[in-house]
Amino acid sequence: MTLLELDHVTASYGPVQVLEGVSLTVPEGGAVGVLGANGAGKTTTLRAISGTVRTGGTIRFAGRDIRGLRPDQVAALGIAHVPEGRGTLAQLSVRENLAVGAYLRKDRRQIEKDIEYCLELFPNLRNRIGSRAAALSGGEQQMLAVGRAFMAKPKLLLLDEASLGLAPSTAKTVYEAIRRLRVDSGIAMLVVEQNANLAFSLVDTATVLETGRTVLTGTSAELKGMDEIRRAYLGG
Ligand SMILES: Nc1ncnc2c1ncn2[C@@H]1O[C@H](COP(=O)(O)OP(=O)(O)OP(=O)(O)O)[C@@H](O)[C@H]1O
Ligand SMILES: [Mg+2]
Repeated sequence: MTLLELDHVTASYGPVQVLEGVSLTVPEGGAVGVLGANGAGKTTTLRAISGTVRTGGTIRFAGRDIRGLRPDQVAALGIAHVPEGRGTLAQLSVRENLAVGAYLRKDRRQIEKDIEYCLELFPNLRNRIGSRAAALSGGEQQMLAVGRAFMAKPKLLLLDEASLGLAPSTAKTVYEAIRRLRVDSGIAMLVVEQNANLAFSLVDTATVLETGRTVLTGTSAELKGMDEIRRAYLGG
């Protein structure tokens, strides 16, 4: 069943329209990539879903029209956004950041178990549990941002460039953990990623954006087989 559906979504910053017609679907439990050059509108697409930019068109989540809802209302429906540039609370500790992620939940005991799960998923964080987020490395901050989003127990995770600024081996570690999270939790994911090799390690299908428009959608295997995708995103 379809969890998220965008149909000809437009978005504007003030008078400037930057999305001209983005259409994509994420099935329940599915993982979908969003590829595209710098400025193509990938981040804006995620913002359109989470309610932080003015939008047109249709955005349906779990059978209801969510376009125009406030960010807190979207989050309460089960959509967690890991923004570009991470979005951890710098002055709070690792444990506090994880606890804040669960602020809408009441199941105290399960929250403790889920914090423990995050620390198994990201062992680096266990060693830094009392450290302020600001004192973490870039990779550790990215792990914390993903962990914090998971703590909300969302139905859908929006991930924006989780590999940005990380060493290749760290980026790989982060994506392997996200993949395990996907398998363990069944959380659906919409994944913006410049590094298409990493994206294809996680997603089943992907959508390619060009200047604010969907131009192509296919399975990972189909896209990897296309010359123009290889040239543009896979380094050959
Ligand atoms: N806050 C803003 N105000 C005005 N224009 C913006 C704003 N944020 C983004 N834009 C413009 O919207 C367009 C799409 O930007 P967006 O950030 O969605 O692209 P992106 O695909 O995520 O790019 P990148 O790969 O560089 O992260 C760009 O032309 C950008 O300059
Ligand atoms: Mg972006």
